[in-house]
Amino acid sequence: MDIEGAVVLVTGASSGIGAATARAASHAGARVVLAARREERIRQLADELGEAVPVACDVTDPGQVEAAVRAATDAFGRIDVLVNNAGQGLQAPIDEIDPADFRALLNLNLVAPLVTMQAVIPVMRKQGSGSIVNVSSGTTFSPLPGSGAYASSKAGLSMLSAVARVNLAGAGIVVSTMFPFMTDTEFVESIRAGREAASRLVSSDGLQAQPPELVAEAILDLIKTGAERADLGPEQFGGSYKG
Ligand SMILES: NC(=O)c1ccc[n+]([C@@H]2O[C@H](COP(=O)([O-])OP(=O)(O)OC[C@H]3O[C@@H](n4cnc5c(N)ncnc54)[C@H](OP(=O)(O)O)[C@@H]3O)[C@@H](O)[C@H]2O)c1
Repeated sequence: MDIEGAVVLVTGASSGIGAATARAASHAGARVVLAARREERIRQLADELGEAVPVACDVTDPGQVEAAVRAATDAFGRIDVLVNNAGQGLQAPIDEIDPADFRALLNLNLVAPLVTMQAVIPVMRKQGSGSIVNVSSGTTFSPLPGSGAYASSKAGLSMLSAVARVNLAGAGIVVSTMFPFMTDTEFVESIRAGREAASRLVSSDGLQAQPPELVAEAILDLIKTGAERADLGPEQFGGSYKG
């Protein structure tokens, strides 16, 4: 798909990978719709980018997702791309995962991306074309201690995304999965539980976090090529990134 002129809806556009993706898409000529809960952040980003629409949206509320999709079609008449990026971490050993936290995490990382896909699919079907990128995680490649809740939510998303690709191929809708690795964003600060453990992990494993702009470029490549997946994980963690 050609990014120039495309209407790109990004969830979780108020920081990190989502904000970097919205910026990169806008710089490549896309018209972007910025969805997130922190209204001030997305309003500022929209002012910076120009042809951009900020929409306050909690993606775990299906009514707000519908409203965000309506805002996009009202503003631009179509939606060419959905970047399903909003998400959150959780770091805890298996015996300490709070089931209430786990349910909320699954709701955000797995159910909300499904609901958001379901909200844009009718628009894309009508157009006869569309691109959806679901943002999973490289933590799904190997069983890292403490990652059980988060990695399983993202493993579910990867499978959902792979099946959606097969389901929607006949409608001209291309679904791809992005697997970022450790990325320098607000991810650790915004974690649902286990912030200290996550911070220790990040600072102790000797790995350099990647810039969100690198993930944004990989997401744009997925949109352009329609490739099934891209990952930025180093080989020792089961990834294929050599950069
Ligand atoms: N950073 C990493 O190392 C890493 C690695 C692999 C995968 N990922 C994935 O990449 C994605 C982006 O994360 P990030 O690293 O950029 O972290 P981040 O800076 O914390 O960004 C998370 C984004 O998700 C949004 N969000 C959270 N809950 C939401 C809700 N209920 N409704 C709408 N938006 C919501 C946040 O916006 P508001 O708070 O304003 O709503 C924020 O814009 C996530 O899916 C994450 O799992 C991250």
